Amino acid sequence: MATTVPSIAAERLPALLAAMPKAELHIHIEGSLEPELIFALAQRNGVAIPYASVEELRRAYAFTNLQSFLDIYYAGASVLLREQDFHDMAWAYLQRAAADNVVRAEIFFDPQTHTARGVSMETVINGLHRACQAAKAQLGVDAELILCFLRHLSEEDAFATLEQALPLRDKFIGVGLDSSELGHPPEKFARVFAQCRLHGLHLVAHAGEEGPPAYVWAALDVLKVERIDHGVQSARDGALMERLARDRIPLTVCPLSNLKLCVFPTLADHNLRALLDAGLVATVNSDDPAYFGGYMNQNFLQTFAATGLGARHAWQLAANSFEGSFAGPARKREYLDRLDAAFATIAAAA
Ligand code: HPA
Ligand code: ZN
Repeated sequence: MATTVPSIAAERLPALLAAMPKAELHIHIEGSLEPELIFALAQRNGVAIPYASVEELRRAYAFTNLQSFLDIYYAGASVLLREQDFHDMAWAYLQRAAADNVVRAEIFFDPQTHTARGVSMETVINGLHRACQAAKAQLGVDAELILCFLRHLSEEDAFATLEQALPLRDKFIGVGLDSSELGHPPEKFARVFAQCRLHGLHLVAHAGEEGPPAYVWAALDVLKVERIDHGVQSARDGALMERLARDRIPLTVCPLSNLKLCVFPTLADHNLRALLDAGLVATVNSDDPAYFGGYMNQNFLQTFAATGLGARHAWQLAANSFEGSFAGPARKREYLDRLDAAFATIAAAA
């Protein structure tokens, strides 16, 4: 942990968490689709949805595990048809991110959810990319896209998806792996990840959200990913924890997601502190904020309130988010300088 973090009074912690610059490395853009926007897009596109009102839809957001969430999440995404829809969804997220002082966002999208409904890959990527470009110009948020393969589908389907996306290669920086984890180990996608690597794409994968430490080992050793999404189950395997710490493999932890999907019974039980204490490059992220009750700053505020983490942890988590990002070295340095400046300002104001 850095030795230069100025001391900051406990009552200033919420302001500090909100004001500090940070990167979000684990956000599914379809999971930022708020019920109000789902209804607006359903009306705009003439799509029927099986809920009478925004309130009724929100009431359905009571999840018991990952699959119970995914069923509703994929249904919600069915209102997205046109390029403008994808743009509007991403733009809404990016405005919220900017308000939370997110200065960099590496955004997942699930093209197979859309191409399976007859929406073209160009429609999806061009709409999202236009919002990312606007975010850089108008919000000062460096926004990049990461294409995720759905692991409940076949590797053959993932290869077809990659082929459709390659003409738009300059509009996304990497690939990931998401959807139903249990029963779909990383090995299933060994060949398609190897192919993506040859294309110079960054590689990440969800592993150890509900799945065992063996899935995290396989994501590292078979898929050769640079980051692990979630990864909280790694704490069950001492040798794995040592490997993650030694190789500085970032974990993109999502506390409110873990709470809502019953990975931990309460936020106070979350193992974020243990991951940091073990020297892991753990980060805080929102995952699917429209479904899990909070964007970035809510994840920070609620987790810190429940676990008693302090200002030094806040600095470490924000620094980890920049280290773990796919920004270039000069940009990372710039982000860290901004982080130190924000801490100095808050310390001086106390
Ligand atoms: N896990 C797996 N797949 C997902 C998630 C998640 O948390 N969110 C959206 N797709
Ligand atoms: Zn996720």
